[in-house]
Amino acid sequence: MRDDNPIDIPVEMKRTKISEIFEPSLIGSEVSVKGWVRTRRGNKNVQFVALNDGSTVRNLQIVFDLSKFSEDSLRAVTTGSSIHVTGRLVESMGKGQSCEVQAETLELYGTADPESYPLQKKGHTLEFLREKAHLRPRTATFGSILRIRSALAFAIHKFFQEKGFFYLNTPLITASDCEGAGAMFQVTTLPLNNLPKTEDGAVDYSKDFFGKPTALTVSGQLEGELGATALGEIYTFGPTFRAENSNTPRHLSEFWMIEPEMAFYDITDNMDLAEEFVKYCISYALENCRHDIEFLAEHFDKELVERLEFVLHNDFVRLTYTEGVEILKASGKKFEFPVDWGTDLQSEHERYLVEEHFKKPVILTDYPREIKAFYMKQNEDGRTVRAMDVLFPKIGEIIGGSEREADYDKLLARIEELGIPMKDMWWYLDTRRFGTVPHSGFGLGFERLVLFVTGMTNIRDVIPFPRTPNNAEF
Ligand code: 4AD
Ligand code: MG
Repeated sequence: MRDDNPIDIPVEMKRTKISEIFEPSLIGSEVSVKGWVRTRRGNKNVQFVALNDGSTVRNLQIVFDLSKFSEDSLRAVTTGSSIHVTGRLVESMGKGQSCEVQAETLELYGTADPESYPLQKKGHTLEFLREKAHLRPRTATFGSILRIRSALAFAIHKFFQEKGFFYLNTPLITASDCEGAGAMFQVTTLPLNNLPKTEDGAVDYSKDFFGKPTALTVSGQLEGELGATALGEIYTFGPTFRAENSNTPRHLSEFWMIEPEMAFYDITDNMDLAEEFVKYCISYALENCRHDIEFLAEHFDKELVERLEFVLHNDFVRLTYTEGVEILKASGKKFEFPVDWGTDLQSEHERYLVEEHFKKPVILTDYPREIKAFYMKQNEDGRTVRAMDVLFPKIGEIIGGSEREADYDKLLARIEELGIPMKDMWWYLDTRRFGTVPHSGFGLGFERLVLFVTGMTNIRDVIPFPRTPNNAEF
Protein backbone atom coordinates (compact mmCIF):
# COMPACT_ATOMS: atom_id res chain seq x y z
CA MET A 1 0.00 0.00 0.00
CA ARG A 2 1.32 3.45 -0.88
CA ASP A 3 1.46 6.25 1.72
CA ASP A 4 0.36 8.89 -0.78
CA ASN A 5 -2.81 7.03 -1.68
CA PRO A 6 -5.50 9.68 -1.03
CA ILE A 7 -8.53 7.44 -0.82
CA ASP A 8 -7.70 4.20 0.91
CA ILE A 9 -7.75 1.89 -2.16
CA PRO A 10 -5.26 -0.97 -1.80
CA VAL A 11 -2.76 -0.69 -4.65
CA GLU A 12 -0.94 -3.88 -5.52
CA MET A 13 2.75 -3.43 -4.98
CA LYS A 14 4.76 -3.51 -8.20
CA ARG A 15 6.40 -6.86 -8.80
CA THR A 16 10.19 -6.99 -8.77
CA LYS A 17 11.83 -9.53 -11.04
CA ILE A 18 14.32 -11.76 -9.28
CA SER A 19 17.01 -10.70 -11.76
CA GLU A 20 16.71 -7.19 -10.30
CA ILE A 21 16.36 -8.03 -6.64
CA PHE A 22 20.03 -8.47 -5.82
CA GLU A 23 20.53 -4.73 -6.31
CA PRO A 24 21.99 -3.60 -2.92
CA SER A 25 19.85 -0.44 -2.82
CA LEU A 26 16.72 -2.57 -2.41
CA ILE A 27 17.84 -3.98 0.94
CA GLY A 28 15.34 -3.00 3.63
CA SER A 29 12.46 -2.31 1.26
CA GLU A 30 9.14 -4.09 0.87
CA VAL A 31 9.06 -6.21 -2.26
CA SER A 32 6.56 -8.25 -4.21
CA VAL A 33 7.90 -11.32 -6.00
CA LYS A 34 6.25 -14.00 -8.12
CA GLY A 35 7.57 -17.26 -9.43
CA TRP A 36 7.80 -21.02 -9.27
CA VAL A 37 8.99 -22.90 -6.21
CA ARG A 38 12.22 -24.80 -6.79
CA THR A 39 12.46 -26.31 -3.31
CA ARG A 40 11.04 -25.94 0.19
CA ARG A 41 12.86 -27.11 3.29
CA GLY A 42 13.17 -26.18 6.94
CA ASN A 43 11.91 -27.14 10.38
CA LYS A 44 8.89 -26.44 12.56
CA ASN A 45 9.97 -22.87 13.27
CA VAL A 46 10.98 -21.67 9.88
CA GLN A 47 10.60 -22.76 6.26
CA PHE A 48 12.82 -21.73 3.34
CA VAL A 49 11.58 -21.58 -0.23
CA ALA A 50 13.91 -21.21 -3.22
CA LEU A 51 11.92 -19.16 -5.71
CA ASN A 52 12.71 -18.74 -9.40
CA ASP A 53 10.85 -16.61 -11.93
CA GLY A 54 12.88 -17.38 -15.05
CA SER A 55 14.49 -13.95 -15.20
CA THR A 56 17.81 -15.30 -13.89
CA VAL A 57 19.43 -18.57 -12.96
CA ARG A 58 19.66 -17.30 -9.37
CA ASN A 59 16.94 -18.32 -6.92
CA LEU A 60 15.59 -15.99 -4.31
CA GLN A 61 15.30 -17.34 -0.79
CA ILE A 62 11.95 -16.68 0.88
CA VAL A 63 11.78 -17.17 4.64
CA PHE A 64 8.47 -18.16 6.21
CA ASP A 65 8.37 -17.68 9.94
CA LEU A 66 5.96 -20.32 11.24
CA SER A 67 4.76 -18.01 13.99
CA LYS A 68 3.19 -15.95 11.14
CA PHE A 69 2.25 -18.74 8.73
CA SER A 70 0.50 -21.96 9.64
CA GLU A 71 2.03 -25.21 8.43
CA ASP A 72 -1.26 -25.78 6.67
CA SER A 73 -0.96 -22.64 4.56
CA LEU A 74 2.45 -23.80 3.36
CA ARG A 75 1.49 -27.40 2.62
CA ALA A 76 0.72 -26.75 -1.04
CA VAL A 77 3.90 -24.72 -1.52
CA THR A 78 5.76 -27.61 -3.12
CA THR A 79 8.32 -27.88 -5.91
CA GLY A 80 6.75 -26.62 -9.13
CA SER A 81 3.91 -24.66 -7.53
CA SER A 82 3.54 -20.96 -8.34
CA ILE A 83 3.29 -18.28 -5.67
CA HIS A 84 3.21 -14.55 -5.01
CA VAL A 85 4.97 -13.31 -1.91
CA THR A 86 5.36 -9.89 -0.39
CA GLY A 87 7.74 -9.09 2.40
CA ARG A 88 10.86 -7.27 3.46
CA LEU A 89 14.11 -7.80 1.59
CA VAL A 90 16.92 -8.26 4.08
CA GLU A 91 20.56 -9.22 4.00
CA SER A 92 20.95 -12.95 4.31
CA MET A 93 22.91 -14.70 7.02
CA GLY A 94 22.89 -17.95 5.10
CA LYS A 95 25.62 -19.08 2.74
CA GLY A 96 25.09 -18.82 -1.01
CA GLN A 97 22.83 -15.79 -1.20
CA SER A 98 23.23 -12.10 -0.53
CA CYS A 99 19.64 -11.34 0.42
CA GLU A 100 16.33 -12.99 1.22
CA VAL A 101 12.70 -12.05 1.64
CA GLN A 102 11.00 -12.32 5.02
CA ALA A 103 7.54 -13.27 3.90
CA GLU A 104 4.57 -11.24 5.10
CA THR A 105 1.88 -12.36 2.64
CA LEU A 106 1.54 -15.47 0.54
CA GLU A 107 -0.76 -16.05 -2.42
CA LEU A 108 -0.81 -19.46 -4.06
CA TYR A 109 -1.41 -19.28 -7.81
CA GLY A 110 -1.18 -22.94 -8.75
CA THR A 111 -0.29 -26.20 -7.08
CA ALA A 112 1.95 -28.93 -8.52
CA ASP A 113 1.06 -32.32 -7.11
CA PRO A 114 4.33 -33.90 -5.87
CA GLU A 115 3.03 -37.32 -6.94
CA SER A 116 2.75 -36.33 -10.57
CA TYR A 117 4.97 -33.27 -11.16
CA PRO A 118 7.74 -34.69 -13.38
CA LEU A 119 10.46 -32.32 -12.17
CA GLN A 120 9.93 -33.07 -8.52
CA LYS A 121 13.53 -34.14 -7.94
CA LYS A 122 16.71 -32.30 -8.82
CA GLY A 123 19.44 -33.70 -11.02
CA HIS A 124 17.44 -35.34 -13.80
CA THR A 125 19.49 -36.47 -16.77
CA LEU A 126 19.37 -34.48 -20.00
CA GLU A 127 17.94 -37.59 -21.70
CA PHE A 128 15.07 -37.70 -19.22
CA LEU A 129 14.43 -33.99 -19.68
CA ARG A 130 14.24 -34.42 -23.47
CA GLU A 131 11.18 -36.58 -22.84
CA LYS A 132 9.75 -33.71 -20.81
CA ALA A 133 10.57 -30.96 -23.29
CA HIS A 134 7.32 -29.18 -22.44
CA LEU A 135 8.46 -28.60 -18.84
CA ARG A 136 12.24 -28.60 -19.04
CA PRO A 137 12.44 -24.78 -19.48
CA ARG A 138 11.53 -24.70 -15.76
CA THR A 139 14.85 -26.28 -14.81
CA ALA A 140 17.91 -24.19 -14.00
CA THR A 141 19.84 -25.77 -16.87
CA PHE A 142 17.29 -25.07 -19.58
CA GLY A 143 16.51 -21.64 -18.19
CA SER A 144 20.18 -20.78 -18.64
CA ILE A 145 20.37 -22.27 -22.13
CA LEU A 146 17.26 -20.44 -23.31
CA ARG A 147 18.39 -17.10 -21.91
CA ILE A 148 21.78 -17.51 -23.61
CA ARG A 149 20.03 -18.46 -26.85
CA SER A 150 17.89 -15.32 -26.65
CA ALA A 151 20.90 -13.11 -25.95
CA LEU A 152 22.79 -14.60 -28.89
CA ALA A 153 19.87 -13.93 -31.22
CA PHE A 154 19.91 -10.30 -30.11
CA ALA A 155 23.70 -10.11 -30.53
CA ILE A 156 23.38 -11.36 -34.10
CA HIS A 157 20.93 -8.63 -35.07
CA LYS A 158 23.01 -6.04 -33.22
CA PHE A 159 26.20 -7.07 -35.00
CA PHE A 160 24.74 -6.85 -38.48
CA GLN A 161 22.57 -3.80 -37.88
CA GLU A 162 25.53 -1.87 -36.50
CA LYS A 163 27.49 -2.77 -39.62
CA GLY A 164 24.74 -1.45 -41.89
CA PHE A 165 23.48 -4.84 -43.08
CA PHE A 166 19.76 -5.14 -43.85
CA TYR A 167 17.63 -7.92 -42.40
CA LEU A 168 16.01 -9.75 -45.31
CA ASN A 169 13.19 -12.24 -44.89
CA THR A 170 13.43 -15.07 -47.37
CA PRO A 171 10.60 -17.51 -48.05
CA LEU A 172 10.13 -20.71 -46.09
CA ILE A 173 8.14 -22.34 -48.88
CA THR A 174 10.20 -22.70 -52.01
CA ALA A 175 10.44 -24.55 -55.29
CA SER A 176 14.25 -24.75 -55.45
CA ASP A 177 16.73 -26.92 -53.58
CA CYS A 178 19.56 -24.53 -52.73
CA GLU A 179 22.03 -27.08 -51.43
CA GLY A 180 21.14 -29.65 -54.07
CA ALA A 181 21.05 -32.41 -51.49
CA GLY A 182 17.42 -33.28 -52.19
CA ALA A 183 16.65 -33.57 -48.48
CA MET A 184 13.52 -31.41 -48.46
CA PHE A 185 10.16 -31.65 -46.74
CA GLN A 186 7.47 -31.47 -49.35
CA VAL A 187 4.67 -28.93 -48.89
CA THR A 188 1.40 -29.96 -50.47
CA THR A 189 -2.34 -29.73 -50.06
CA LEU A 190 -2.98 -32.64 -52.42
CA PRO A 191 -4.92 -35.50 -50.83
CA LEU A 192 -2.23 -38.13 -50.25
CA ASN A 193 -4.68 -41.02 -50.43
CA ASN A 194 -6.15 -39.86 -53.72
CA LEU A 195 -3.51 -38.05 -55.76
CA PRO A 196 -4.53 -36.41 -59.03
CA LYS A 197 -2.61 -38.00 -61.91
CA THR A 198 -1.59 -36.83 -65.37
CA GLU A 199 -2.22 -39.01 -68.42
CA ASP A 200 1.16 -40.70 -68.08
CA GLY A 201 0.48 -41.60 -64.45
CA ALA A 202 2.65 -38.97 -62.71
CA VAL A 203 1.31 -36.79 -59.87
CA ASP A 204 -0.44 -33.78 -61.39
CA TYR A 205 1.13 -30.90 -59.49
CA SER A 206 -0.78 -28.36 -61.54
CA LYS A 207 -3.61 -29.24 -59.15
CA ASP A 208 -1.46 -28.56 -56.07
CA PHE A 209 -1.75 -25.37 -54.03
CA PHE A 210 1.06 -23.52 -55.82
CA GLY A 211 0.53 -25.27 -59.16
CA LYS A 212 3.96 -26.94 -58.85
CA PRO A 213 5.92 -29.06 -56.36
CA THR A 214 7.10 -27.06 -53.36
CA ALA A 215 9.03 -27.77 -50.18
CA LEU A 216 10.28 -26.14 -46.98
CA THR A 217 13.51 -24.27 -47.61
CA VAL A 218 16.93 -25.74 -46.75
CA SER A 219 18.55 -22.30 -46.98
CA GLY A 220 17.62 -18.70 -47.74
CA GLN A 221 20.82 -18.10 -49.66
CA LEU A 222 19.56 -17.96 -53.23
CA GLU A 223 16.99 -15.30 -52.35
CA GLY A 224 19.62 -13.71 -50.09
CA GLU A 225 21.75 -13.20 -53.18
CA LEU A 226 18.89 -11.30 -54.81
CA GLY A 227 18.88 -9.02 -51.74
CA ALA A 228 22.66 -8.56 -51.67
CA THR A 229 22.83 -7.67 -55.34
CA ALA A 230 20.34 -4.89 -54.66
CA LEU A 231 20.92 -3.69 -51.09
CA GLY A 232 24.63 -4.49 -50.91
CA GLU A 233 24.83 -6.30 -47.58
CA ILE A 234 22.00 -8.34 -46.12
CA TYR A 235 21.50 -11.09 -43.58
CA THR A 236 18.75 -13.58 -43.03
CA PHE A 237 17.92 -15.20 -39.71
CA GLY A 238 15.21 -17.79 -39.86
CA PRO A 239 14.27 -21.43 -39.66
CA THR A 240 15.49 -23.95 -42.23
CA PHE A 241 14.42 -27.53 -42.72
CA ARG A 242 16.35 -30.61 -43.74
CA ALA A 243 14.80 -34.02 -44.15
CA GLU A 244 18.11 -35.86 -43.94
CA ASN A 245 17.94 -38.91 -41.74
CA SER A 246 20.98 -38.01 -39.65
CA ASN A 247 20.52 -38.89 -36.03
CA THR A 248 23.60 -37.16 -34.65
CA PRO A 249 24.20 -34.80 -31.72
CA ARG A 250 24.76 -31.99 -34.26
CA HIS A 251 21.82 -32.31 -36.68
CA LEU A 252 18.25 -31.11 -36.42
CA SER A 253 15.47 -31.44 -38.98
CA GLU A 254 14.41 -27.88 -38.19
CA PHE A 255 17.18 -25.47 -37.27
CA TRP A 256 17.84 -21.74 -37.45
CA MET A 257 20.39 -20.29 -39.77
CA ILE A 258 21.94 -16.86 -40.14
CA GLU A 259 22.98 -16.17 -43.73
CA PRO A 260 24.78 -12.92 -44.50
CA GLU A 261 25.32 -12.21 -48.19
CA MET A 262 27.53 -9.37 -49.38
CA ALA A 263 28.10 -7.73 -52.73
CA PHE A 264 31.74 -6.86 -53.52
CA TYR A 265 33.18 -9.29 -50.93
CA ASP A 266 35.74 -11.85 -52.02
CA ILE A 267 36.53 -15.03 -50.10
CA THR A 268 39.02 -13.24 -47.82
CA ASP A 269 36.50 -10.54 -46.91
CA ASN A 270 34.03 -13.36 -46.27
CA MET A 271 36.41 -15.17 -43.90
CA ASP A 272 37.22 -11.92 -42.07
CA LEU A 273 33.53 -11.23 -41.55
CA ALA A 274 32.80 -14.77 -40.36
CA GLU A 275 35.60 -14.64 -37.83
CA GLU A 276 34.64 -11.20 -36.53
CA PHE A 277 30.99 -12.26 -36.34
CA VAL A 278 31.40 -15.40 -34.25
CA LYS A 279 33.86 -13.68 -31.95
CA TYR A 280 31.39 -10.85 -31.44
CA CYS A 281 28.61 -13.28 -30.51
CA ILE A 282 30.81 -15.15 -28.04
CA SER A 283 32.04 -11.99 -26.41
CA TYR A 284 28.48 -10.64 -26.17
CA ALA A 285 27.41 -13.80 -24.35
CA LEU A 286 30.38 -13.66 -21.98
CA GLU A 287 29.54 -10.07 -21.10
CA ASN A 288 25.78 -10.43 -20.85
CA CYS A 289 25.14 -14.01 -19.72
CA ARG A 290 27.86 -14.42 -17.13
CA HIS A 291 25.69 -16.10 -14.45
CA ASP A 292 24.15 -18.54 -16.92
CA ILE A 293 27.49 -19.45 -18.49
CA GLU A 294 29.07 -19.93 -15.09
CA PHE A 295 26.18 -22.12 -13.98
CA LEU A 296 26.54 -24.35 -17.04
CA ALA A 297 30.31 -24.43 -16.65
CA GLU A 298 30.00 -25.55 -13.05
CA HIS A 299 27.51 -28.31 -13.82
CA PHE A 300 28.49 -29.58 -17.26
CA ASP A 301 31.75 -28.27 -18.63
CA LYS A 302 34.50 -26.99 -16.36
CA GLU A 303 36.55 -25.64 -19.28
CA LEU A 304 33.72 -23.69 -20.87
CA VAL A 305 34.78 -20.13 -20.02
CA GLU A 306 38.39 -20.89 -20.82
CA ARG A 307 37.41 -22.33 -24.22
CA LEU A 308 35.24 -19.34 -25.07
CA GLU A 309 37.99 -16.92 -24.12
CA PHE A 310 40.54 -18.93 -26.05
CA VAL A 311 38.49 -18.66 -29.24
CA LEU A 312 38.07 -14.93 -28.69
CA HIS A 313 41.75 -14.25 -28.27
CA ASN A 314 43.21 -16.35 -31.07
CA ASP A 315 43.25 -15.92 -34.82
CA PHE A 316 41.52 -18.70 -36.70
CA VAL A 317 43.95 -20.80 -38.74
CA ARG A 318 43.28 -20.57 -42.49
CA LEU A 319 44.34 -23.28 -44.90
CA THR A 320 43.10 -25.08 -47.96
CA TYR A 321 41.23 -28.37 -48.02
CA THR A 322 44.20 -29.87 -49.90
CA GLU A 323 46.59 -28.85 -47.11
CA GLY A 324 44.12 -30.16 -44.53
CA VAL A 325 43.92 -33.54 -46.24
CA GLU A 326 47.72 -33.76 -46.32
CA ILE A 327 47.88 -33.11 -42.58
CA LEU A 328 45.22 -35.76 -41.93
CA LYS A 329 46.99 -38.33 -44.08
CA ALA A 330 50.34 -37.64 -42.46
CA SER A 331 48.84 -37.82 -38.96
CA GLY A 332 49.09 -41.59 -38.80
CA LYS A 333 45.77 -41.56 -36.98
CA LYS A 334 43.25 -44.33 -37.64
CA PHE A 335 39.98 -42.68 -38.64
CA GLU A 336 36.70 -44.51 -38.95
CA PHE A 337 36.31 -42.98 -42.42
CA PRO A 338 39.53 -42.95 -44.45
CA VAL A 339 40.58 -39.56 -45.89
CA ASP A 340 41.59 -39.06 -49.46
CA TRP A 341 41.59 -35.98 -51.67
CA GLY A 342 38.07 -35.62 -53.02
CA THR A 343 36.17 -37.14 -50.12
CA ASP A 344 34.02 -35.00 -47.87
CA LEU A 345 35.54 -34.47 -44.44
CA GLN A 346 33.78 -36.20 -41.57
CA SER A 347 33.35 -34.67 -38.16
CA GLU A 348 36.23 -36.83 -36.82
CA HIS A 349 38.58 -35.29 -39.42
CA GLU A 350 37.44 -31.75 -38.74
CA ARG A 351 37.85 -32.23 -35.03
CA TYR A 352 41.31 -33.75 -35.44
CA LEU A 353 42.47 -30.64 -37.26
CA VAL A 354 40.92 -28.29 -34.72
CA GLU A 355 41.39 -30.11 -31.44
CA GLU A 356 44.58 -32.08 -31.94
CA HIS A 357 46.61 -30.58 -34.75
CA PHE A 358 46.11 -26.79 -34.62
CA LYS A 359 44.29 -26.56 -31.27
CA LYS A 360 42.50 -23.51 -32.68
CA PRO A 361 39.43 -22.84 -34.83
CA VAL A 362 40.21 -23.50 -38.46
CA ILE A 363 38.87 -22.10 -41.72
CA LEU A 364 39.28 -24.57 -44.57
CA THR A 365 38.97 -23.22 -48.12
CA ASP A 366 39.09 -24.38 -51.73
CA TYR A 367 37.26 -27.68 -51.51
CA PRO A 368 36.91 -30.10 -54.45
CA ARG A 369 34.07 -28.87 -56.64
CA GLU A 370 32.40 -32.29 -56.68
CA ILE A 371 31.55 -32.20 -52.97
CA LYS A 372 30.26 -28.62 -52.86
CA ALA A 373 27.14 -26.84 -54.12
CA PHE A 374 26.70 -25.56 -57.68
CA TYR A 375 26.82 -21.84 -56.83
CA MET A 376 30.40 -21.68 -55.54
CA LYS A 377 33.02 -19.76 -57.50
CA GLN A 378 35.13 -22.09 -59.59
CA ASN A 379 38.90 -21.80 -59.18
CA GLU A 380 41.38 -21.60 -62.07
CA ASP A 381 42.60 -25.16 -61.40
CA GLY A 382 39.27 -26.56 -62.62
CA ARG A 383 39.16 -28.92 -59.61
CA THR A 384 38.31 -26.75 -56.64
CA VAL A 385 35.81 -24.07 -55.65
CA ARG A 386 36.15 -21.03 -53.41
CA ALA A 387 34.33 -22.58 -50.46
CA MET A 388 35.05 -21.91 -46.81
CA ASP A 389 34.03 -23.97 -43.79
CA VAL A 390 34.70 -22.70 -40.28
CA LEU A 391 35.52 -25.60 -37.94
CA PHE A 392 35.22 -25.31 -34.17
CA PRO A 393 36.41 -27.36 -31.21
CA LYS A 394 33.77 -29.84 -29.99
CA ILE A 395 31.42 -28.83 -32.82
CA GLY A 396 33.15 -29.43 -36.14
CA GLU A 397 31.56 -27.34 -38.90
CA ILE A 398 29.85 -24.27 -37.48
CA ILE A 399 29.80 -22.16 -40.67
CA GLY A 400 29.67 -23.08 -44.35
CA GLY A 401 30.01 -20.49 -47.08
CA SER A 402 31.78 -19.38 -50.23
CA GLU A 403 32.50 -16.74 -52.75
CA ARG A 404 29.77 -17.15 -55.37
CA GLU A 405 30.23 -17.87 -59.05
CA ALA A 406 29.49 -14.46 -60.58
CA ASP A 407 30.10 -15.46 -64.21
CA TYR A 408 26.89 -16.29 -66.05
CA ASP A 409 28.40 -18.81 -68.48
CA LYS A 410 30.35 -20.72 -65.84
CA LEU A 411 27.36 -20.85 -63.53
CA LEU A 412 25.05 -22.00 -66.29
CA ALA A 413 27.53 -24.69 -67.35
CA ARG A 414 27.67 -26.01 -63.78
CA ILE A 415 23.87 -26.00 -63.42
CA GLU A 416 23.55 -27.95 -66.66
CA GLU A 417 26.35 -30.34 -65.71
CA LEU A 418 24.52 -31.19 -62.49
CA GLY A 419 21.18 -31.52 -64.25
CA ILE A 420 19.50 -28.86 -62.09
CA PRO A 421 16.17 -27.97 -63.78
CA MET A 422 16.26 -24.53 -65.44
CA LYS A 423 12.64 -23.88 -64.54
CA ASP A 424 13.80 -23.54 -60.92
CA MET A 425 16.86 -21.44 -61.66
CA TRP A 426 16.09 -18.80 -64.30
CA TRP A 427 15.44 -16.08 -61.73
CA TYR A 428 18.69 -16.86 -59.90
CA LEU A 429 20.64 -16.70 -63.15
CA ASP A 430 19.19 -13.25 -63.79
CA THR A 431 21.47 -11.87 -61.03
CA ARG A 432 24.38 -12.88 -63.28
CA ARG A 433 22.71 -11.63 -66.48
CA PHE A 434 22.00 -8.15 -65.17
CA GLY A 435 24.71 -6.24 -63.35
CA THR A 436 26.54 -9.24 -61.91
CA VAL A 437 29.11 -8.48 -59.20
CA PRO A 438 31.62 -10.47 -57.19
CA HIS A 439 29.88 -11.49 -53.98
CA SER A 440 30.12 -13.88 -51.07
CA GLY A 441 28.20 -15.18 -48.10
CA PHE A 442 27.96 -17.87 -45.50
CA GLY A 443 25.55 -19.68 -43.22
CA LEU A 444 26.00 -20.05 -39.47
CA GLY A 445 24.00 -22.82 -37.84
CA PHE A 446 22.44 -21.00 -34.87
CA GLU A 447 22.09 -24.11 -32.71
CA ARG A 448 25.72 -25.04 -33.33
CA LEU A 449 26.70 -21.61 -32.03
CA VAL A 450 24.44 -22.07 -29.00
CA LEU A 451 26.01 -25.51 -28.44
CA PHE A 452 29.44 -23.97 -28.42
CA VAL A 453 28.56 -21.09 -26.11
CA THR A 454 26.63 -23.23 -23.61
CA GLY A 455 29.07 -26.16 -23.63
CA MET A 456 26.19 -28.57 -24.20
CA THR A 457 26.98 -31.62 -26.28
CA ASN A 458 23.64 -32.52 -27.86
CA ILE A 459 21.92 -30.10 -30.25
CA ARG A 460 18.52 -31.31 -28.97
CA ASP A 461 19.30 -29.48 -25.74
CA VAL A 462 19.82 -26.01 -27.20
CA ILE A 463 16.54 -25.50 -29.07
CA PRO A 464 13.29 -25.31 -27.08
CA PHE A 465 11.40 -27.88 -29.15
CA PRO A 466 13.76 -30.08 -31.17
CA ARG A 467 12.64 -31.65 -34.43
CA THR A 468 14.58 -34.79 -35.30
CA PRO A 469 13.61 -38.00 -37.10
CA ASN A 470 10.68 -39.56 -35.20
CA ASN A 471 10.41 -36.66 -32.80
CA ALA A 472 7.83 -33.88 -33.12
CA GLU A 473 5.88 -34.37 -29.91
CA PHE A 474 6.12 -30.99 -28.23
O1 4AD B 1 26.90 -25.81 -44.88
P1 4AD B 1 25.44 -25.53 -45.11
O2 4AD B 1 24.60 -26.62 -45.66
O3 4AD B 1 25.41 -24.24 -46.03
C1 4AD B 1 24.32 -23.65 -46.58
O4 4AD B 1 23.18 -23.97 -46.40
C2 4AD B 1 24.66 -22.42 -47.39
N1 4AD B 1 23.51 -22.10 -48.24
C3 4AD B 1 25.02 -21.28 -46.46
C4 4AD B 1 25.39 -20.03 -47.19
O5 4AD B 1 26.44 -19.97 -47.78
N2 4AD B 1 24.56 -19.01 -47.15
O6 4AD B 1 24.78 -25.04 -43.74
C5 4AD B 1 25.31 -23.93 -43.04
C6 4AD B 1 25.44 -24.24 -41.58
C7 4AD B 1 26.37 -25.40 -41.26
O7 4AD B 1 27.71 -24.97 -41.22
C8 4AD B 1 25.88 -25.82 -39.90
O8 4AD B 1 26.37 -24.99 -38.89
C9 4AD B 1 24.38 -25.59 -40.01
O9 4AD B 1 24.19 -24.65 -41.05
N3 4AD B 1 23.65 -26.82 -40.33
C10 4AD B 1 22.89 -27.49 -39.44
N4 4AD B 1 22.62 -27.26 -38.15
C11 4AD B 1 21.79 -28.12 -37.51
N5 4AD B 1 21.21 -29.18 -38.11
C12 4AD B 1 21.45 -29.45 -39.41
N6 4AD B 1 20.85 -30.49 -39.99
C13 4AD B 1 22.32 -28.58 -40.14
N7 4AD B 1 22.76 -28.55 -41.41
C14 4AD B 1 23.57 -27.46 -41.51
MG1 MG C 1 28.27 -27.28 -45.02
